[in-house]
Amino acid sequence: MFYLKAKKILKQKKIIVTAGGTIQPIDPVRFIGNFSSGKMGVAIAKEFRKYTKNVILIYGNISTKLPYNTVNIKAITVNDMYFAIKKHLTDNSILIMSAAVSDFKVKKFSKTKIKKNKTISLSLVPTLDILKTLSKYKKPNNFFVGFAVESKNLIKNAKKKLVEKKLDMIVANPITLENYPFGSDYNQVYFITMEKVEKLPRMRKGKIAKLLVKEIINEIM
Ligand code: CTP
Repeated sequence: MFYLKAKKILKQKKIIVTAGGTIQPIDPVRFIGNFSSGKMGVAIAKEFRKYTKNVILIYGNISTKLPYNTVNIKAITVNDMYFAIKKHLTDNSILIMSAAVSDFKVKKFSKTKIKKNKTISLSLVPTLDILKTLSKYKKPNNFFVGFAVESKNLIKNAKKKLVEKKLDMIVANPITLENYPFGSDYNQVYFITMEKVEKLPRMRKGKIAKLLVKEIINEIM
């Protein structure tokens, strides 16, 4: 019953999932990156694909296999990812930003390889905040989900991101000694909306994806 109802609802929706880490080049051979594997985003895209064909996966640096039955688009830098999303985002899209988007880029990209014969310091400037920028164009039938990675004040900081980025839901991941989500097949998360904070036990990312997709469908039903 749930499956058929969900299928019907998602028929009118376009699902856009981002996965993995973006990278920002420093010079022709080096970059700033992060430890994201893309496993969570890929699991979410696969889960949505069980309900609808209309799934676009926009991925950065990943170390996991891409699904064979989704539309997969590579986006290396923050700007690439932003423009790829913007191109596909429609007034009724569901956007799940599980990508670990780079927060910094070098102020000046070096066109030539930087030599190691001296100590150097890199000047870093913030990148574009994709979700915050897209929230300006958000339409009533859009549903935006963000992810928050925090090593302290998890719930408070995640709620702040929920409000500032005009999200409908945020998945908060604590980074602790017991829970290091990057690269792992497991994670312990919270589903947070304006109305509730739901703590999930530590489980496989595939199971989190299953529960998250159900939660999103229930929210838009
Ligand atoms: N995000 C984004 N654009 C950025 C950085 C992050 O769209 N330049 C998105 C992420 O994909 C995620 C959410 O915003 O869904 C929160 O990302 P997170 O890294 O937890 O927080 P930041 O907003 O980057 O803030 P901070 O790093 O200071 O915690």
